[in-house]
Amino acid sequence: MTTTAFFIPCVNLMGAGCLSDAVKTIQSYGFKKALIVTDKPLVQIGIVKTVTDQLAGAGVGAVVFDGVQPNPTTGNVAEGLKLLNDNGCDFVISLGGGSPHDCAKGIALVAVNGGSIKDYEGVDKSAKPQLPLVAINTTAGTASEMTRFCIITDESRHVKMAIVDKHTTPILSVNDPELMLLKPAGLTAATGMDALTHAVEAYVSTIATPITDACALKAVEIISQWLRTAVADGKNIEAREQMAYAQFLAGMAFNNASLGYVHAMAHQLGGFYDLPHGVCNAILLPHVQAYNKQVAAKRLGDVARAMGEKVDGLSDDAAADVCLAAIRKLSADIGIPSGVAQLGAKAEDIPTLTENALKDACGFTNPKQATAEEISAIFAAAL
Ligand SMILES: [Fe+2]
Repeated sequence: MTTTAFFIPCVNLMGAGCLSDAVKTIQSYGFKKALIVTDKPLVQIGIVKTVTDQLAGAGVGAVVFDGVQPNPTTGNVAEGLKLLNDNGCDFVISLGGGSPHDCAKGIALVAVNGGSIKDYEGVDKSAKPQLPLVAINTTAGTASEMTRFCIITDESRHVKMAIVDKHTTPILSVNDPELMLLKPAGLTAATGMDALTHAVEAYVSTIATPITDACALKAVEIISQWLRTAVADGKNIEAREQMAYAQFLAGMAFNNASLGYVHAMAHQLGGFYDLPHGVCNAILLPHVQAYNKQVAAKRLGDVARAMGEKVDGLSDDAAADVCLAAIRKLSADIGIPSGVAQLGAKAEDIPTLTENALKDACGFTNPKQATAEEISAIFAAAL
């Protein structure tokens, strides 16, 4: 028997209108001044002002850092940290999707532990818990508002660093679907497929447990039922709420069962070409699971069943094929490109991408460990 640990923020608020509950909770914790880590589109559509107004009403000050890039960088972390120190902020609020959450984790971790965010690449490299982080989510998604995963691009190496550290877990996560209604269709599709990838990779992971299995399969079920609606009709609050629950469940799964080669490889495409994380995952997902089918066919059959597919009476191998087809159909239905070459990826870069993918900590729990030749073949198939 091996022992396992289960990580999750200690307070998690869900449902339409829960932002006001979050502000009351922040007030009750006695925090005085937030560094709000966010991006410019959220300033432009007014969501940042909604939050700062509510904080001001509760007597909580705020300084806004809106310089987070879509794939947050070591430079973004350093810039936000300077603003935090210059203004004497006593806690951090991340507001947005995965990029602001990850950047905020980097800032909050270095604020307490010192040095540079590069010092914490890997698993549990920090000595102390980060500055308190409240993560207000506006996508469904990365689940970064509730995980211990922090992905920061090292600009000097063009590599996405995976920082997996229990000390980056936010103290409070907030999923208010009213903040998700303005999310564009393309972003809804990409982030929804990211969540599906979290669930599938966690379910076939070598360290899956009955807890993570339950979370993963329920996430797959909800995503299959609601993602198409959320993409087609962004104002549908029920679809937004269901996707918020689904991505949170997928987050519970992968935060504890970790991921696999889809993420290990998508991080390289994202870091090398500055591509959207969810789209890279969506394209790679069926290719990596076709490889994993050699050892995880039965589990992929379970995923097919959770997607609403009829697999009773089929062999494990045939059921896994149904799973791959259902994933491809979902991607196509919501407008995900069929290959990464359409996004600018080039065959000549595959050796570099492969070398870095094999170092990514997310790949260590893939159900079958691959050779460099096998990873290169998967990249080539996904072009
Ligand atoms: Fe992801």
